[in-house]
Order: sequence, then C-alpha cells, then structure tokens
Amino acid sequence: MGYDLPRIEETLHRARPGRRLQFLEEVGSTQDRAFLLAEHGAPDGSVVLAERQTAGRGRLGRAWDAPAGAGAWFSVILRPHAVPPPEPTLLVAATVLAVAEGMEEATGLVPGIRWPNDLVVGDRKVAGILLETRDLAPEAPLFILGVGINTDRGTEAFPKELRDISTTIAAETGRSPDRTSLLCAVLEALDRWRTTLAAAGPPVVEEAFRARVAYLGHRVSLLAGEERLVGVLESASPVTGVFLRLDGGGWRAIRPEHAREVRPLPGDPGEEE
Ligand code: BTN
Repeated sequence: MGYDLPRIEETLHRARPGRRLQFLEEVGSTQDRAFLLAEHGAPDGSVVLAERQTAGRGRLGRAWDAPAGAGAWFSVILRPHAVPPPEPTLLVAATVLAVAEGMEEATGLVPGIRWPNDLVVGDRKVAGILLETRDLAPEAPLFILGVGINTDRGTEAFPKELRDISTTIAAETGRSPDRTSLLCAVLEALDRWRTTLAAAGPPVVEEAFRARVAYLGHRVSLLAGEERLVGVLESASPVTGVFLRLDGGGWRAIRPEHAREVRPLPGDPGEEE
C-alpha cells in the first residue's frame, strides 16, 4: 500500500506549520535531497520520503538496499536551536529511541538497540540510522537524519550478504505494517525525544537508551577503529561508550566516536541465565 501523504503532512504541521514533506517515487538517496531542500531553506523537521532509493547509503560507507515497497526510507532536516547544539551521538540516540517507540506503537514489535544506532530483533537488523552534516556553520548547524526501516520483504529478497543478518517488521509480526502509521508514530516520537533532550539533557536519553540496549551481558564482537575486540558487553551508552570484558582478560572502554559496530557471538554467557 502507498503512503497517505496528506496524513503525514498533517502530522508534520501539527507539530509545526511550515514543515515540508517531499515525496519521491524514486531518488538516489533521500539524504542528498534533504540537503538540497535544506539549502533552499526548508525548516527544521521537514521530511524527504522515497518509495525507492537507487543509491541509498548506510553507515561506515556502506550501501543501503532500499527497493520499492520493502521499507520506510526517509530523511529529516534537523536545525537544532540549542547553543551549543546537541552532540551528534545524542541526536542519534534520541532517534534510535524514537524509531523503536514508533515501531512499537504502530506495529507491536519491540526492537532492541544494537549499539550505537541499529534496531534489532534477536540478532537481525530491522532498522538503521545515519546522521550526516555538511558545512556545519556554528551559528546555524544542520544535520540530516536518515532512517531506513525494513517493513516487508521475504528474507530471500535481501541481497545475499544481508540475508542472514536482516529482518523486516512483517517477518517478525506476521503482518505487513501500515507504513503511514509507522512513519507518523516515528516522527511524533522524534519530536518528543528531541524536546526531552533539550529540556532534560543527556541523562534521560541515556537512561531510556540503556533500558533498550541489546546483548548486555552477552559475548560480542566489536569493531573499534580497525581493531576487532571480543568480550562480554558490560555497558553501552551513547554518552560514555561501551565497556567490554575481554575474552583474554582485562577490560576495554571504547568511546562512542571510536566504536563502529557490535555483533552478538555464539558462546554467550547470557544464554546460560
Ligand atoms: C545504517 O544502518 O547503516 C544506516 C542506514 C540508513 C538508511 C537510510 S534510508 C533513508 C536515508 N537515505 C539514505 O541514503 N540512507 C538513509
């Protein structure tokens, strides 16, 4: 089913009149369109939504597969008012929480956070987040927040390298989600979390994040810079980073800006609980 665009517009305008929604059947990346729209003055909270991306991008220079009908692919223009603007890791954390809550509200699925910014069900990824910035002027910071949520496609329809590590809302719940309700719930939750972050500061976001983090107490493999570390995930925070109890003995603290991804490993102490 296609998107109900008037309803999405209404949701955006309820929060703030003037916000723009640009919908495209096909685009290279909604991120680039959002940058363009922002350069032309689109206000904070404006959204670019595409049915299909031909050059979707993910974190760590990876491509993001985004075929028609298989997901909610969108970018949000963020122009934080706070001086100084929030740390990017906190904006990402607020977004991860918003996507998780929106997904839960609209579909009943309860995803976990795979630190720093994936949503997972078990060990499979259901959504990813990408925060980008260009020519950051200190007096008018601009971030483009990209969200990709896998809604509906058979596992076999994922590219081979993603087949065993990805999932969709439909695969997990047995029902194709209504993408309009999903998108509206996520956008509303994003406004809520941004307000909370501005008003209450990092600790509230950090606490909610911690409550959803996946693999705590489990054995994981973590890529920190170019180094791969293996150990038990003792804690994970968007502010302070990750504590790992290393397989070979000892501890490592990894700052958020140095860690790239966490993957669960077999031989989990968590499984014995
Ligand atoms: C990741 O997990 O690596 C982040 C994936 C982000 C994908 C979304 S889809 C909408 C937006 N446009 C893009 O090109 N990427 C993001």
